Amino acid sequence: MLNELVSGHTHDHIDWADRLALLRAADTLDAPAQASIAERLVAKLPPHPTVIDLGCGAGGMSTHFAQALATRDGGTVILVDATPELLHEAERAVRSAAEHAVRSAVDGAVGPAAGGAVRSAVDGAVGPAAGRAVRSAAERVVGPAREHAIHPAVDGVVRPEAERAVRTPADGGRQAEADSVQTVEVRAVVADLADAGLPGLLPAADLVWASRVVHHLPDQQAAIGTLSAVARDGGVVALAEGGLNFSCLPWDLGVGRPGLEDRLQAAQAEWFVGMREGIDGAVPMPYGWPIALERAGLADVSSFSALVDHPAPGPDGLTDYVHHHLSRLADHGADFLTADDRATLATLLDPDGEHSLAKRRDLYLLGVRTVHHGRRT
Ligand SMILES: C[S@@+](CC[C@H](N)C(=O)[O-])C[C@H]1O[C@@H](n2cnc3c(N)ncnc32)[C@H](O)[C@@H]1O
Repeated sequence: MLNELVSGHTHDHIDWADRLALLRAADTLDAPAQASIAERLVAKLPPHPTVIDLGCGAGGMSTHFAQALATRDGGTVILVDATPELLHEAERAVRSAAEHAVRSAVDGAVGPAAGGAVRSAVDGAVGPAAGRAVRSAAERVVGPAREHAIHPAVDGVVRPEAERAVRTPADGGRQAEADSVQTVEVRAVVADLADAGLPGLLPAADLVWASRVVHHLPDQQAAIGTLSAVARDGGVVALAEGGLNFSCLPWDLGVGRPGLEDRLQAAQAEWFVGMREGIDGAVPMPYGWPIALERAGLADVSSFSALVDHPAPGPDGLTDYVHHHLSRLADHGADFLTADDRATLATLLDPDGEHSLAKRRDLYLLGVRTVHHGRRT
């Protein structure tokens, strides 16, 4: 259950709802890397798999899971997060991506019914009812009512209903095409990943995905054990953690002392130490992620990385992302940066200033996301 998280804050005391714009901008730029990671992971799964995205944020990764499932034989994507505002956005984004992918997969053969093939998380509603479905999930934050939000998922992929969604009488002679329609169900559940009871609240998953969230939990090793228990026997558990810091600025910005980005990253590292120390009941995990997966009892533990590479001037959305990214670093680094560096950041972030980021054509994005994965035996 959500315990103290009902107050709207997670164990790390971060206001995640306030980070929606940053998460969305990051999802846009991460899309090529996320898509390749999703395809690689989904390729290992059995037919009609259940994929659970724990700490889903704005839902970017699950849009790729939904697309990958739609191009195979369908399946279920369950979004889980402690922040209802983000979960709302994630469900909207993933349902939209799934609808688009299902429509593409059937090449328009079933028309509007394809939308019906993407089913609601909470109440079985389809299409425009999505907003209502998400509100229902958010309302069911605490107490036994949450179980209602979750047990429909335990009932599984709801194939008979999904088939009804496409096998309408109006389909008539298109039955053959309808038979081949793959359904992607999208469900949303508000939950605290530090809750040891999590496995009892979710269906067994073929793939458990947790990106950049475990390091926000008090006992990371215990949490990995909990996440692993969400997987079915033989299921895959994959964590996106670590990798390489993202760079986006030239060394000499023409304002302030050169090398600002290196100092921002050092300040971020200091902030991270404080963030961990500020978590009530934080437990050290003095070893790397693959060891943590092994200690959780997973087999075939391995890691791989994906490059995020947008050379200058970069795609649409790059400046917006860099603005959000630097704003966050300015916030995190407030206690660790010199007054000069803080002033330089303010100048860069001023949309009307001479040195505004918006006027630069030399911003880029280069970084690495690393995925550590293992199999439950
Ligand atoms: C850094 S964001 C990562 C979002 C997404 N997975 C990604 O990689 O872009 C961390 C996410 O974890 C969620 N979160 C933090 N603590 C949580 C907790 N105790 N239980 C569930 N979700 C949590 C936040 O609401 C946020 O959506």
